[in-house]
Amino acid sequence: MLSVLARGGLILSRQWHIARCDAHLWLAPGLRAFHATIPSKKASKNAEKRAKKEAEATRAAQKLFAVHFEREQFGSRMPGLVEALEKDSAPGAFLNRYSATETRIAYLINNAPAERCVGVSLPSFTKRDGRVFTGAQPDRNGTLCAYHIDAASLLAAQALEPKPDDSVLDMCAAPGGKSLAIAQFLSAGGSITANDVSPSRRKRLADVMSLYLPSRDKRRRGGDAEGDACAGGVTVCPREAPTPATVADASAAPPATGDWEAPVPPTVRITGFDATMQGAFGSDTFDRVLLDAPCSSDRHLLRDPEELAKWGPGRIKANAARQAALLACALDAARPGGTVVYSTCALSNRENDDVVARVLARLPFPAVVVPLAFAFGEATPLGGWHVLPDTGLGFGPLYICKLVKGTSTVPRGIRGDYSNVVPVACAAETAVRAAERCTAAGAGAACSRETNTSAERAQRVHTRGGGTE
Ligand SMILES: C[S@@+](CC[C@H](N)C(=O)[O-])C[C@H]1O[C@@H](n2cnc3c(N)ncnc32)[C@H](O)[C@@H]1O
Repeated sequence: MLSVLARGGLILSRQWHIARCDAHLWLAPGLRAFHATIPSKKASKNAEKRAKKEAEATRAAQKLFAVHFEREQFGSRMPGLVEALEKDSAPGAFLNRYSATETRIAYLINNAPAERCVGVSLPSFTKRDGRVFTGAQPDRNGTLCAYHIDAASLLAAQALEPKPDDSVLDMCAAPGGKSLAIAQFLSAGGSITANDVSPSRRKRLADVMSLYLPSRDKRRRGGDAEGDACAGGVTVCPREAPTPATVADASAAPPATGDWEAPVPPTVRITGFDATMQGAFGSDTFDRVLLDAPCSSDRHLLRDPEELAKWGPGRIKANAARQAALLACALDAARPGGTVVYSTCALSNRENDDVVARVLARLPFPAVVVPLAFAFGEATPLGGWHVLPDTGLGFGPLYICKLVKGTSTVPRGIRGDYSNVVPVACAAETAVRAAERCTAAGAGAACSRETNTSAERAQRVHTRGGGTE
């Protein structure tokens, strides 16, 4: 028996040897590909070395990042903050008031136990057990019932305080979570211009808007008139000891009658401008402007070794310059007396308060910061609000600053000239391309008309060298 085993082993080992030496002759065709994936000893050693090098580089980049922020901003808080940033964000979701009540109730039941997010005015939920929310179901009209989002992001829409009939510009809108949150505050008389320069991200934005907002023309029966399932009884949890949103709470929401029409959503226009392009949206135009600016995105950065390896303080500086250009244009687009909310998901003050202070100091018209306060997060020296995951219930980072544009008149010839703020990236070709790319959800004709006008305006501004309106 032993000798049989030994012989078998010998045969196996000899076959293995043959296989390794002359695999393509010995192995059946199907197995050749498999063999090709077996790394040689040398290759696996090299891979091991490479992995070790990469791990070392990541550790070094993490250290550079942590030391930078420890020195610049957070001091001894930094290790705890890094630990919180490296964890998944606390799960968050809000219910879409344009979907049918019964689908929202079913969603909450399926996701029990969920807790109402304290201090967030939209019906939004989190889970203490850290489990993610399950997929949002379409109602009988095909409208999805819940959107998954970091609850801190909802505070940006809340700070904007949209009124039902307002015209709102979301300058950097894709993939659309905040536009959708804003839409919850608006009625049929309101409008959102949701803009994003990236074609692929704009496609996601268009998908989100059409999946969550019923068509204005072809609304089918099924939604509820008031549109807030939570009003029926899901309790608001106090900060320290949240009350779970139980199945009973969810069931206490008003039952769907099926006789109501879904609420009419606001008009949505989706545009593709480079929002640093002065005048692209028209000056003094919108009641509210949200600028959720591209930023360092530090929570994602810490989880992406490739990006982290490229990180350095220079990146913060470059972001801050672009953010200032965008904020100047956001303030230009707001009507006198209108509100602008500036937000980022960056840690650095340089991308947050400092950007606001820098733009305010050089604006050719008055604007003021309106101090913010929410149930979670912390105030910043300028009156902004910063949600950081170590103290912000696991949400964030999210920085928010609310500004109101002054109503006093500005002499013609000065308005719109921000060359003293930051060089404005103004390219007529970009404007024309953006006009071509403009797609509309709900108002095609208005969209192309408006966008062309803006493109022409941008062209004029460009021809005059980034000049005046
Ligand atoms: C932080 S993300 C916006 C997230 C979005 N507000 C949301 O809640 O889903 C920033 C967006 O800005 C866009 N962006 C970057 N530079 C831009 C520019 N110059 N003009 C317009 N959009 C820009 C990016 O494509 C990106 O989608």
